[in-house]
Amino acid sequence: MIIDIAGSSNGKTSPSGGEYLGSNPSPATMLIKSVRQAKNLNNKTVFLRVDFNVPMENDLIKEDYKIIQGLPTIRFLLRYSCRLIIATHLAKASTKPIAQRLGQLLDKKVDFINNCCGESVVKAANKLKTGEILFLENLRINGGEEKNDKKFAKQLASLADLYVNDAFAVCHRNHASVSAIKKYLPAYVGLLLEKEIINLDKIKEPKKPLISIIGGVKMKTKSALIKKLLKKSYRMLIGGALANNFIASHGFEVGCSIIDQESIKIVAKLKDNAKIILPIDAVVSNKKDGGDVVVKSINQIGKKDIILDIGPKTIKLYASFIKQANTIVWNGPMGYFENEHFKHGTLAVARLVASRSDGKAFGVVGGGETVEALKITKMADYVDWVSTGGGAMLAYLSGEKMPGLEKLKVKNS
Ligand code: 3PG
Repeated sequence: MIIDIAGSSNGKTSPSGGEYLGSNPSPATMLIKSVRQAKNLNNKTVFLRVDFNVPMENDLIKEDYKIIQGLPTIRFLLRYSCRLIIATHLAKASTKPIAQRLGQLLDKKVDFINNCCGESVVKAANKLKTGEILFLENLRINGGEEKNDKKFAKQLASLADLYVNDAFAVCHRNHASVSAIKKYLPAYVGLLLEKEIINLDKIKEPKKPLISIIGGVKMKTKSALIKKLLKKSYRMLIGGALANNFIASHGFEVGCSIIDQESIKIVAKLKDNAKIILPIDAVVSNKKDGGDVVVKSINQIGKKDIILDIGPKTIKLYASFIKQANTIVWNGPMGYFENEHFKHGTLAVARLVASRSDGKAFGVVGGGETVEALKITKMADYVDWVSTGGGAMLAYLSGEKMPGLEKLKVKNS
């Protein structure tokens, strides 16, 4: 069933994995197939695609934000006594530790099977009783996943009665478990994916003024987003190595800072846009990992300097814009924040965004490193929406094709 979610809540997430039932309506009118509206869910077998692609080190989970964000949909389905077959991709490793962590968070047994399709999986799925969970091995161990292979999608679909996609972070990929599978099962959107759409649509149709803050390294991955957001933004504040390309194309020295010719080319077409605000000073050094750290005005950067953070005057300037915002979106750190000497700009922006979001503006933060920096400030809870999507958030806000959302979301014309 398709429902109109124009009046749905933005629903701040609860760290304990509570339900998303907030109260800010989405300005975008759209139709979405939410699992909340699925009929006859009781006792059904559900194939639940999640994105629990979390950072791991030697089989240890370093950070479990995405798993926590996935809990409301799982709890929702369990309340209908569904049998759950849960699947995710993971960068390289086995999903076994993810299944274990999920069991701990739910305080419930989660069976893990070391395959994602084939006879053993069919047998295990058939054995599931109501309210039980089977967690599959990393979907990408099967070559069919990344090829959007119909046969693989059909195998996954054959395990269940219906399909729920809660994996926003992978919806920009044309992969079997988010794309082709929808041909073979009734398909619905999970609670997390629903909230991602509602909240990111508030950036697409912002309450003005919208202040966009874009940092990071490669212009190539951000140019579509920058072009799209510039149309809606009052001002766009640029930081990170991305800013170096703008600074260089205005004819200033950037010394040994990161720049690349492809980015310079893209920047050439954007640099004179009056909405774009660039750093006026920077924290520079002669070495990336320390060295002689000094603050310099942008017109004083020397040939041996490396720009590694925005400077204090830039922070003050950016703060003056952030304080005017009714909507804020931030993606990409302002500098090399992993290093003690160069973290201040990024952390200051994180605090400014969080403080302004706290009831004054609608604030959205996304991207792996950006969220990591926000968490260092311990102010993530003040931000209205911390997206689980990195590339997916960029793609969604840029208006790119999202194979994972096809047939699940239609604009109401
Ligand atoms: C992410 O971490 O951005 C998602 O899990 C997608 O992962 P991918 O870039 O490997 O497709």
